[in-house]
Amino acid sequence: MKQTRILHLLQSNRPVDNVIIKGWVRTRRDAKGFSFIEVNDGSCLKNMQVIADSSLVNYKEITKLSTGSAVAVTGSLMESPGKGQKWELKADGLEILSLTPDTFPLQKKRHSDEFLRTIAHLRPRTNKYSAVFRIRSELSFAIHKFFKDRGFKYIHTPVLTASDCEGAGELFKVTTLDLDSVPKKDGKTDFSLDFFGAATSLTVSGQLSAEMFALALGDVYTFGPTFRAENSNTSRHVAEFWMVEPEMAFSDLNDAMDLSEEFLKYLTGYVMDECVDDLELFAKYVDKNLMKTLEGLITSDFTRLSYKEAMEILSKSGQTFEFEVGFGKDLQSEHERYLTEHYFKKPVIIYDYPKNIRPFYMRINDDNKTVAAMDVLVPNIGEIIGGSQREERINVLEARLDKLGLSKKDYWWYVESRRYGSAYHSGFGLGFERLLMFLTGVTNIRDVIPFPRTPSSISF
Ligand code: 4AD
Ligand code: MG
Repeated sequence: MKQTRILHLLQSNRPVDNVIIKGWVRTRRDAKGFSFIEVNDGSCLKNMQVIADSSLVNYKEITKLSTGSAVAVTGSLMESPGKGQKWELKADGLEILSLTPDTFPLQKKRHSDEFLRTIAHLRPRTNKYSAVFRIRSELSFAIHKFFKDRGFKYIHTPVLTASDCEGAGELFKVTTLDLDSVPKKDGKTDFSLDFFGAATSLTVSGQLSAEMFALALGDVYTFGPTFRAENSNTSRHVAEFWMVEPEMAFSDLNDAMDLSEEFLKYLTGYVMDECVDDLELFAKYVDKNLMKTLEGLITSDFTRLSYKEAMEILSKSGQTFEFEVGFGKDLQSEHERYLTEHYFKKPVIIYDYPKNIRPFYMRINDDNKTVAAMDVLVPNIGEIIGGSQREERINVLEARLDKLGLSKKDYWWYVESRRYGSAYHSGFGLGFERLLMFLTGVTNIRDVIPFPRTPSSISF
Protein backbone atom coordinates (compact mmCIF):
# COMPACT_ATOMS: atom_id res chain seq x y z
CA MET A 1 0.00 0.00 0.00
CA LYS A 2 1.20 3.50 -0.83
CA GLN A 3 1.89 5.82 2.04
CA THR A 4 0.55 9.32 2.56
CA ARG A 5 3.18 12.02 2.97
CA ILE A 6 3.34 13.62 6.41
CA LEU A 7 3.16 17.08 4.81
CA HIS A 8 -0.33 16.29 3.53
CA LEU A 9 -1.53 14.62 6.71
CA LEU A 10 -0.51 17.59 8.84
CA GLN A 11 -2.63 19.84 6.62
CA SER A 12 -5.73 17.72 7.26
CA ASN A 13 -8.75 19.44 8.78
CA ARG A 14 -10.35 16.28 10.12
CA PRO A 15 -9.34 12.94 11.66
CA VAL A 16 -8.57 10.20 9.10
CA ASP A 17 -8.68 6.40 9.53
CA ASN A 18 -6.54 3.79 7.77
CA VAL A 19 -3.57 6.01 7.20
CA ILE A 20 -0.14 4.66 6.33
CA ILE A 21 3.09 6.62 6.65
CA LYS A 22 6.66 5.54 5.97
CA GLY A 23 9.68 7.37 7.24
CA TRP A 24 12.63 7.47 9.62
CA VAL A 25 12.61 7.61 13.40
CA ARG A 26 13.93 10.91 14.74
CA THR A 27 13.40 10.21 18.44
CA ARG A 28 11.55 7.77 20.69
CA ARG A 29 10.29 8.36 24.20
CA ASP A 30 8.70 5.64 26.31
CA ALA A 31 5.93 6.17 28.85
CA LYS A 32 3.94 3.63 30.83
CA GLY A 33 2.22 1.38 28.28
CA PHE A 34 3.15 3.66 25.37
CA SER A 35 5.99 4.65 23.11
CA PHE A 36 5.97 8.08 21.45
CA ILE A 37 7.88 7.98 18.18
CA GLU A 38 8.71 11.04 16.11
CA VAL A 39 8.75 10.01 12.45
CA ASN A 40 10.01 12.20 9.62
CA ASP A 41 9.57 11.37 5.94
CA GLY A 42 11.37 14.36 4.42
CA SER A 43 8.22 15.84 2.89
CA CYS A 44 8.33 18.67 5.42
CA LEU A 45 10.28 19.83 8.42
CA LYS A 46 7.68 18.64 10.92
CA ASN A 47 7.58 15.10 12.27
CA MET A 48 4.52 12.97 12.82
CA GLN A 49 4.12 11.92 16.42
CA VAL A 50 3.25 8.23 16.42
CA ILE A 51 1.63 6.65 19.48
CA ALA A 52 2.44 2.97 19.76
CA ASP A 53 0.78 1.23 22.70
CA SER A 54 1.79 -1.97 24.42
CA SER A 55 -1.01 -3.97 22.77
CA LEU A 56 0.93 -3.99 19.49
CA VAL A 57 2.25 -7.50 18.83
CA ASN A 58 5.83 -6.32 18.31
CA TYR A 59 5.78 -3.74 21.12
CA LYS A 60 8.95 -5.15 22.61
CA GLU A 61 10.91 -4.52 19.40
CA ILE A 62 9.30 -1.09 19.06
CA THR A 63 10.74 -0.03 22.39
CA LYS A 64 14.18 -0.74 20.94
CA LEU A 65 13.68 1.46 17.87
CA SER A 66 16.74 3.62 17.34
CA THR A 67 17.20 7.02 15.70
CA GLY A 68 17.46 6.70 11.93
CA SER A 69 15.51 3.42 11.68
CA ALA A 70 13.00 3.11 8.83
CA VAL A 71 9.40 2.29 9.73
CA ALA A 72 5.97 1.88 8.15
CA VAL A 73 3.07 2.84 10.40
CA THR A 74 -0.63 2.20 9.84
CA GLY A 75 -3.22 3.80 12.06
CA SER A 76 -5.61 6.68 12.61
CA LEU A 77 -4.84 10.38 12.41
CA MET A 78 -6.30 11.88 15.57
CA GLU A 79 -6.26 15.24 17.22
CA SER A 80 -3.38 15.34 19.64
CA PRO A 81 -4.17 16.11 23.27
CA GLY A 82 -0.48 16.90 23.83
CA LYS A 83 1.20 20.25 23.33
CA GLY A 84 3.35 21.00 20.29
CA GLN A 85 1.35 19.28 17.57
CA LYS A 86 -2.19 19.37 16.21
CA TRP A 87 -2.26 15.78 14.92
CA GLU A 88 -0.82 12.48 15.97
CA LEU A 89 -0.98 9.01 14.53
CA LYS A 90 -2.38 6.27 16.75
CA ALA A 91 -0.69 3.12 15.43
CA ASP A 92 -2.61 -0.09 14.69
CA GLY A 93 0.54 -1.60 13.29
CA LEU A 94 4.18 -0.60 13.09
CA GLU A 95 6.51 -2.48 10.80
CA ILE A 96 10.23 -2.02 11.33
CA LEU A 97 11.70 -1.84 7.82
CA SER A 98 15.28 -1.49 9.00
CA LEU A 99 16.86 -1.06 12.40
CA THR A 100 19.74 1.42 12.45
CA PRO A 101 22.66 0.43 14.65
CA ASP A 102 23.79 2.92 17.27
CA THR A 103 26.87 3.75 15.20
CA PHE A 104 24.52 6.05 13.20
CA PRO A 105 26.41 9.35 13.25
CA LEU A 106 23.33 11.59 13.39
CA GLN A 107 22.28 11.40 17.00
CA LYS A 108 19.99 13.88 18.69
CA LYS A 109 22.60 16.55 19.44
CA ARG A 110 23.45 19.32 17.00
CA HIS A 111 26.39 18.64 14.71
CA SER A 112 28.74 21.21 13.20
CA ASP A 113 28.50 22.02 9.50
CA GLU A 114 32.16 21.03 9.13
CA PHE A 115 31.44 17.56 10.52
CA LEU A 116 28.33 17.17 8.38
CA ARG A 117 30.38 17.94 5.24
CA THR A 118 32.37 14.80 5.97
CA ILE A 119 29.12 12.81 5.83
CA ALA A 120 27.46 14.65 2.95
CA HIS A 121 25.66 11.42 2.02
CA LEU A 122 23.78 11.49 5.34
CA ARG A 123 23.40 15.20 6.04
CA PRO A 124 20.11 15.59 4.11
CA ARG A 125 18.60 13.51 6.94
CA THR A 126 19.04 16.38 9.38
CA ASN A 127 16.43 19.10 9.86
CA LYS A 128 18.70 21.88 8.65
CA TYR A 129 19.91 20.19 5.49
CA SER A 130 16.54 18.77 4.51
CA ALA A 131 15.26 22.34 4.81
CA VAL A 132 18.07 23.68 2.61
CA PHE A 133 17.31 21.19 -0.10
CA ARG A 134 13.55 21.63 0.01
CA ILE A 135 14.10 25.38 -0.42
CA ARG A 136 16.56 24.65 -3.24
CA SER A 137 13.86 22.64 -4.99
CA GLU A 138 11.17 25.32 -4.55
CA LEU A 139 13.57 28.00 -5.74
CA SER A 140 14.34 26.07 -8.94
CA PHE A 141 10.65 25.86 -9.66
CA ALA A 142 10.22 29.59 -8.93
CA ILE A 143 12.90 30.43 -11.50
CA HIS A 144 11.07 28.57 -14.23
CA LYS A 145 7.76 30.08 -13.16
CA PHE A 146 9.15 33.62 -13.22
CA PHE A 147 10.36 33.23 -16.79
CA LYS A 148 7.40 31.24 -18.03
CA ASP A 149 4.99 33.89 -16.73
CA ARG A 150 6.94 36.51 -18.70
CA GLY A 151 7.15 34.57 -21.95
CA PHE A 152 10.85 33.64 -21.78
CA LYS A 153 11.87 30.42 -23.53
CA TYR A 154 14.02 27.87 -21.71
CA ILE A 155 17.14 26.90 -23.70
CA HIS A 156 19.37 23.92 -22.89
CA THR A 157 22.86 25.13 -23.67
CA PRO A 158 25.71 22.61 -23.98
CA VAL A 159 27.98 21.62 -21.11
CA LEU A 160 30.80 20.55 -23.45
CA THR A 161 32.32 23.47 -25.32
CA ALA A 162 35.31 24.66 -27.31
CA SER A 163 35.00 28.33 -26.26
CA ASP A 164 35.97 30.15 -23.09
CA CYS A 165 33.06 32.53 -22.50
CA GLU A 166 34.58 34.51 -19.66
CA GLY A 167 38.10 34.45 -21.11
CA ALA A 168 39.49 33.87 -17.64
CA GLY A 169 41.12 30.56 -18.52
CA GLU A 170 39.44 28.76 -15.63
CA LEU A 171 38.52 25.77 -17.76
CA PHE A 172 38.27 22.11 -16.88
CA LYS A 173 39.65 20.27 -19.87
CA VAL A 174 37.76 17.28 -21.22
CA THR A 175 39.62 14.69 -23.21
CA THR A 176 39.62 11.05 -24.19
CA LEU A 177 43.34 11.14 -25.05
CA ASP A 178 45.54 8.70 -23.18
CA LEU A 179 47.11 10.96 -20.58
CA ASP A 180 50.10 8.62 -20.27
CA SER A 181 51.00 9.14 -23.91
CA VAL A 182 49.55 12.34 -25.22
CA PRO A 183 50.05 12.85 -28.99
CA LYS A 184 52.17 15.92 -29.75
CA LYS A 185 52.57 18.25 -32.69
CA ASP A 186 55.29 20.94 -32.62
CA GLY A 187 55.79 20.18 -28.95
CA LYS A 188 52.12 20.79 -28.05
CA THR A 189 49.21 18.42 -27.45
CA ASP A 190 47.64 17.47 -30.77
CA PHE A 191 43.94 17.96 -30.05
CA SER A 192 43.07 17.14 -33.65
CA LEU A 193 43.41 13.52 -32.49
CA ASP A 194 41.11 14.07 -29.50
CA PHE A 195 37.44 13.04 -29.39
CA PHE A 196 36.07 16.27 -30.87
CA GLY A 197 39.15 17.06 -32.92
CA ALA A 198 39.64 20.22 -30.88
CA ALA A 199 40.55 21.28 -27.35
CA THR A 200 37.37 20.90 -25.32
CA SER A 201 36.27 21.89 -21.85
CA LEU A 202 33.31 22.10 -19.49
CA THR A 203 31.38 25.32 -19.92
CA VAL A 204 31.94 28.29 -17.59
CA SER A 205 28.69 29.91 -18.74
CA GLY A 206 25.88 29.22 -21.20
CA GLN A 207 25.77 32.85 -22.28
CA LEU A 208 27.32 32.70 -25.75
CA SER A 209 24.91 29.95 -26.79
CA ALA A 210 21.99 31.73 -25.11
CA GLU A 211 22.75 34.88 -27.12
CA MET A 212 22.27 32.93 -30.37
CA PHE A 213 18.80 31.94 -29.19
CA ALA A 214 17.89 35.41 -27.90
CA LEU A 215 18.67 36.65 -31.41
CA ALA A 216 16.06 34.20 -32.67
CA LEU A 217 13.43 33.72 -29.95
CA GLY A 218 13.66 37.13 -28.26
CA ASP A 219 13.60 36.46 -24.52
CA VAL A 220 15.34 33.28 -23.38
CA TYR A 221 17.09 31.83 -20.35
CA THR A 222 19.33 28.94 -19.43
CA PHE A 223 19.55 27.28 -16.03
CA GLY A 224 22.16 24.62 -15.61
CA PRO A 225 25.48 23.57 -14.15
CA THR A 226 28.65 25.51 -14.92
CA PHE A 227 32.25 24.72 -14.04
CA ARG A 228 35.22 26.83 -13.02
CA ALA A 229 38.69 25.63 -12.20
CA GLU A 230 39.36 28.65 -9.96
CA ASN A 231 41.74 27.62 -7.29
CA SER A 232 40.11 29.90 -4.74
CA ASN A 233 39.14 28.14 -1.57
CA THR A 234 36.57 30.67 -0.38
CA SER A 235 33.17 30.28 1.24
CA ARG A 236 31.57 31.66 -1.96
CA HIS A 237 33.20 29.62 -4.70
CA VAL A 238 32.69 26.06 -5.83
CA ALA A 239 34.07 24.39 -8.96
CA GLU A 240 30.62 23.19 -10.07
CA PHE A 241 27.69 25.53 -9.55
CA TRP A 242 24.36 26.33 -11.13
CA MET A 243 23.76 29.53 -13.01
CA VAL A 244 20.57 31.15 -14.29
CA GLU A 245 21.20 33.22 -17.41
CA PRO A 246 18.44 35.27 -19.01
CA GLU A 247 19.22 36.95 -22.34
CA MET A 248 16.94 39.48 -24.03
CA ALA A 249 17.01 40.77 -27.59
CA PHE A 250 16.38 44.47 -28.18
CA SER A 251 17.27 45.34 -24.61
CA ASP A 252 20.02 47.42 -23.09
CA LEU A 253 21.92 47.55 -19.82
CA ASN A 254 19.07 49.32 -18.01
CA ASP A 255 16.65 46.59 -19.06
CA ALA A 256 19.04 43.97 -17.66
CA MET A 257 19.32 45.89 -14.38
CA ASP A 258 15.53 46.23 -14.16
CA LEU A 259 15.06 42.52 -14.79
CA SER A 260 17.69 41.55 -12.22
CA GLU A 261 15.96 43.61 -9.54
CA GLU A 262 12.50 42.29 -10.37
CA PHE A 263 13.87 38.74 -10.49
CA LEU A 264 15.57 38.84 -7.08
CA LYS A 265 12.50 40.41 -5.46
CA TYR A 266 10.22 37.80 -6.99
CA LEU A 267 12.38 34.85 -5.92
CA THR A 268 12.79 36.17 -2.39
CA GLY A 269 9.05 36.76 -2.06
CA TYR A 270 8.31 33.33 -3.48
CA VAL A 271 10.46 31.54 -0.92
CA MET A 272 9.06 33.66 1.92
CA ASP A 273 5.53 32.65 0.89
CA GLU A 274 6.11 29.01 -0.03
CA CYS A 275 8.78 27.82 2.41
CA VAL A 276 7.45 29.26 5.68
CA ASP A 277 8.42 26.43 8.06
CA ASP A 278 11.81 25.75 6.50
CA LEU A 279 12.72 29.44 6.40
CA GLU A 280 11.74 29.82 10.04
CA LEU A 281 14.39 27.28 10.99
CA PHE A 282 17.08 29.48 9.42
CA ALA A 283 15.67 32.65 10.97
CA LYS A 284 15.73 30.96 14.37
CA TYR A 285 18.98 29.00 14.36
CA VAL A 286 21.21 30.30 11.56
CA ASP A 287 20.76 34.07 11.14
CA LYS A 288 18.59 36.05 13.56
CA ASN A 289 18.43 38.98 11.10
CA LEU A 290 17.37 36.82 8.17
CA MET A 291 13.77 38.00 7.81
CA LYS A 292 14.85 41.62 8.11
CA THR A 293 17.44 41.13 5.37
CA LEU A 294 14.94 39.42 3.08
CA GLU A 295 12.28 42.07 3.68
CA GLY A 296 14.96 44.70 3.05
CA LEU A 297 15.59 43.28 -0.40
CA ILE A 298 11.91 43.13 -1.30
CA THR A 299 11.04 46.63 -0.12
CA SER A 300 14.08 48.67 -1.15
CA ASP A 301 14.89 50.21 -4.49
CA PHE A 302 18.33 48.88 -5.36
CA THR A 303 20.92 51.66 -5.40
CA ARG A 304 22.48 52.05 -8.85
CA LEU A 305 25.84 53.72 -9.23
CA SER A 306 28.75 53.61 -11.63
CA TYR A 307 31.99 51.80 -10.93
CA LYS A 308 33.68 55.24 -10.84
CA GLU A 309 31.32 56.47 -8.12
CA ALA A 310 31.79 53.23 -6.20
CA MET A 311 35.56 53.64 -6.32
CA GLU A 312 35.25 57.22 -5.02
CA ILE A 313 33.14 56.07 -2.08
CA LEU A 314 35.65 53.34 -1.29
CA SER A 315 38.67 55.66 -1.51
CA LYS A 316 37.02 58.15 0.84
CA SER A 317 35.70 55.51 3.22
CA GLY A 318 38.63 55.63 5.63
CA GLN A 319 38.48 51.82 5.78
CA THR A 320 41.60 49.71 5.59
CA PHE A 321 41.06 47.10 2.93
CA GLU A 322 43.32 44.16 2.22
CA PHE A 323 43.13 44.92 -1.52
CA GLU A 324 43.88 48.38 -2.89
CA VAL A 325 41.13 50.47 -4.47
CA GLY A 326 41.49 52.73 -7.52
CA PHE A 327 40.22 53.09 -11.09
CA GLY A 328 41.14 50.01 -13.11
CA LYS A 329 41.20 47.64 -10.12
CA ASP A 330 38.50 45.05 -9.75
CA LEU A 331 36.18 45.18 -6.75
CA GLN A 332 37.01 42.50 -4.22
CA SER A 333 34.49 40.84 -1.97
CA GLU A 334 35.50 43.09 0.97
CA HIS A 335 34.76 46.21 -1.14
CA GLU A 336 31.46 44.84 -2.36
CA ARG A 337 30.35 43.97 1.13
CA TYR A 338 31.36 47.36 2.50
CA LEU A 339 29.17 49.06 -0.12
CA THR A 340 26.08 46.89 0.27
CA GLU A 341 26.24 46.14 4.02
CA HIS A 342 27.72 49.28 5.55
CA TYR A 343 27.44 52.18 3.16
CA PHE A 344 24.09 51.70 1.43
CA LYS A 345 22.71 48.95 3.69
CA LYS A 346 20.73 47.47 0.80
CA PRO A 347 21.26 45.82 -2.57
CA VAL A 348 23.47 47.79 -4.94
CA ILE A 349 23.96 47.61 -8.71
CA ILE A 350 27.31 48.81 -10.01
CA TYR A 351 27.65 49.50 -13.73
CA ASP A 352 30.19 50.68 -16.33
CA TYR A 353 33.30 48.77 -15.31
CA PRO A 354 36.69 49.43 -16.96
CA LYS A 355 36.90 47.38 -20.14
CA ASN A 356 40.29 45.86 -19.29
CA ILE A 357 38.84 43.94 -16.30
CA ARG A 358 35.83 42.60 -18.18
CA PRO A 359 35.38 39.90 -20.90
CA PHE A 360 35.39 40.47 -24.67
CA TYR A 361 31.64 40.27 -25.24
CA MET A 362 30.66 43.35 -23.22
CA ARG A 363 29.57 46.45 -25.15
CA ILE A 364 32.15 49.24 -25.18
CA ASN A 365 30.78 52.59 -23.97
CA ASP A 366 31.31 55.88 -25.82
CA ASP A 367 34.17 56.83 -23.49
CA ASN A 368 36.07 53.82 -24.95
CA LYS A 369 37.33 53.09 -21.40
CA THR A 370 34.37 51.34 -19.83
CA VAL A 371 31.92 48.65 -20.86
CA ALA A 372 28.15 48.38 -20.29
CA ALA A 373 28.60 45.83 -17.50
CA MET A 374 26.74 45.49 -14.23
CA ASP A 375 27.08 43.53 -11.00
CA VAL A 376 24.36 43.17 -8.38
CA LEU A 377 25.66 43.09 -4.80
CA VAL A 378 23.56 42.00 -1.82
CA PRO A 379 24.24 42.05 1.93
CA ASN A 380 26.11 39.03 3.38
CA ILE A 381 27.12 37.81 -0.07
CA GLY A 382 28.57 40.58 -2.23
CA GLU A 383 28.30 39.77 -5.96
CA ILE A 384 25.25 37.63 -6.68
CA ILE A 385 24.67 38.61 -10.34
CA GLY A 386 27.00 39.64 -13.14
CA GLY A 387 25.74 40.83 -16.52
CA SER A 388 26.06 43.28 -19.38
CA GLN A 389 24.82 44.64 -22.63
CA ARG A 390 26.57 42.67 -25.37
CA GLU A 391 28.74 44.11 -28.14
CA GLU A 392 26.49 43.95 -31.19
CA ARG A 393 28.72 45.99 -33.59
CA ILE A 394 30.68 43.50 -35.65
CA ASN A 395 33.68 45.76 -36.32
CA VAL A 396 34.02 46.67 -32.63
CA LEU A 397 33.69 43.02 -31.62
CA GLU A 398 36.33 41.87 -34.11
CA ALA A 399 38.73 44.59 -33.02
CA ARG A 400 38.22 43.57 -29.39
CA LEU A 401 38.92 39.89 -30.11
CA ASP A 402 42.12 40.91 -31.95
CA LYS A 403 43.21 43.18 -29.13
CA LEU A 404 42.73 40.42 -26.57
CA GLY A 405 44.57 37.91 -28.73
CA LEU A 406 41.44 35.75 -29.12
CA SER A 407 41.06 33.87 -32.37
CA LYS A 408 38.29 35.11 -34.66
CA LYS A 409 38.38 31.65 -36.17
CA ASP A 410 37.34 30.05 -32.89
CA TYR A 411 34.51 32.53 -32.36
CA TRP A 412 33.42 32.65 -36.02
CA TRP A 413 29.82 31.70 -35.28
CA TYR A 414 29.54 34.26 -32.50
CA VAL A 415 30.87 36.99 -34.79
CA GLU A 416 28.55 35.88 -37.57
CA SER A 417 25.51 36.48 -35.36
CA ARG A 418 26.48 40.16 -35.64
CA ARG A 419 26.69 40.00 -39.42
CA TYR A 420 23.10 38.83 -39.93
CA GLY A 421 20.34 40.82 -38.27
CA SER A 422 22.49 42.02 -35.42
CA ALA A 423 20.45 43.58 -32.62
CA TYR A 424 21.35 45.16 -29.34
CA HIS A 425 20.77 42.72 -26.48
CA SER A 426 21.64 42.16 -22.85
CA GLY A 427 21.51 39.60 -20.07
CA PHE A 428 23.04 38.42 -16.84
CA GLY A 429 24.01 35.38 -14.79
CA LEU A 430 22.69 34.71 -11.30
CA GLY A 431 24.71 32.36 -9.10
CA PHE A 432 22.02 29.96 -7.88
CA GLU A 433 23.96 28.82 -4.77
CA ARG A 434 24.79 32.40 -3.83
CA LEU A 435 21.09 33.20 -3.91
CA LEU A 436 20.39 30.19 -1.69
CA MET A 437 23.01 31.43 0.76
CA PHE A 438 21.35 34.84 0.79
CA LEU A 439 17.89 33.34 1.34
CA THR A 440 18.89 30.99 4.16
CA GLY A 441 21.67 32.93 5.88
CA VAL A 442 24.00 29.94 5.39
CA THR A 443 27.51 31.37 5.19
CA ASN A 444 29.34 28.59 3.33
CA ILE A 445 28.41 27.75 -0.25
CA ARG A 446 29.39 24.11 0.43
CA ASP A 447 26.30 23.83 2.62
CA VAL A 448 23.67 24.74 0.02
CA ILE A 449 24.75 22.30 -2.73
CA PRO A 450 24.15 18.55 -2.41
CA PHE A 451 27.70 17.39 -3.04
CA PRO A 452 30.12 20.33 -3.24
CA ARG A 453 33.09 20.22 -5.60
CA THR A 454 36.02 22.31 -4.38
CA PRO A 455 39.83 22.14 -4.81
CA SER A 456 41.09 18.71 -3.61
CA SER A 457 37.58 17.56 -2.76
CA ILE A 458 35.50 15.29 -4.99
CA SER A 459 34.12 12.70 -2.51
CA PHE A 460 30.53 11.56 -2.79
O1 4AD B 1 29.95 37.13 -13.12
P1 4AD B 1 29.99 35.82 -13.86
O2 4AD B 1 31.33 35.24 -14.12
O3 4AD B 1 29.18 36.09 -15.20
C1 4AD B 1 29.08 35.23 -16.26
O4 4AD B 1 29.47 34.10 -16.30
C2 4AD B 1 28.27 35.80 -17.39
N1 4AD B 1 28.57 35.01 -18.60
C3 4AD B 1 26.81 35.77 -17.04
C4 4AD B 1 25.93 36.36 -18.11
O5 4AD B 1 26.01 37.53 -18.35
N2 4AD B 1 25.10 35.54 -18.73
O6 4AD B 1 29.13 34.75 -13.06
C5 4AD B 1 27.76 35.01 -12.77
C6 4AD B 1 27.46 34.68 -11.33
C7 4AD B 1 28.25 35.48 -10.31
O7 4AD B 1 27.69 36.74 -10.09
C8 4AD B 1 28.18 34.57 -9.09
O8 4AD B 1 26.94 34.76 -8.41
C9 4AD B 1 28.17 33.19 -9.70
O9 4AD B 1 27.78 33.33 -11.04
N3 4AD B 1 29.50 32.56 -9.63
C10 4AD B 1 29.83 31.54 -8.81
N4 4AD B 1 29.11 30.88 -7.88
C11 4AD B 1 29.73 29.91 -7.20
N5 4AD B 1 30.99 29.51 -7.41
C12 4AD B 1 31.76 30.13 -8.33
N6 4AD B 1 33.01 29.72 -8.55
C13 4AD B 1 31.18 31.20 -9.07
N7 4AD B 1 31.62 32.02 -10.07
C14 4AD B 1 30.59 32.82 -10.37
MG1 MG C 1 31.26 38.36 -12.12
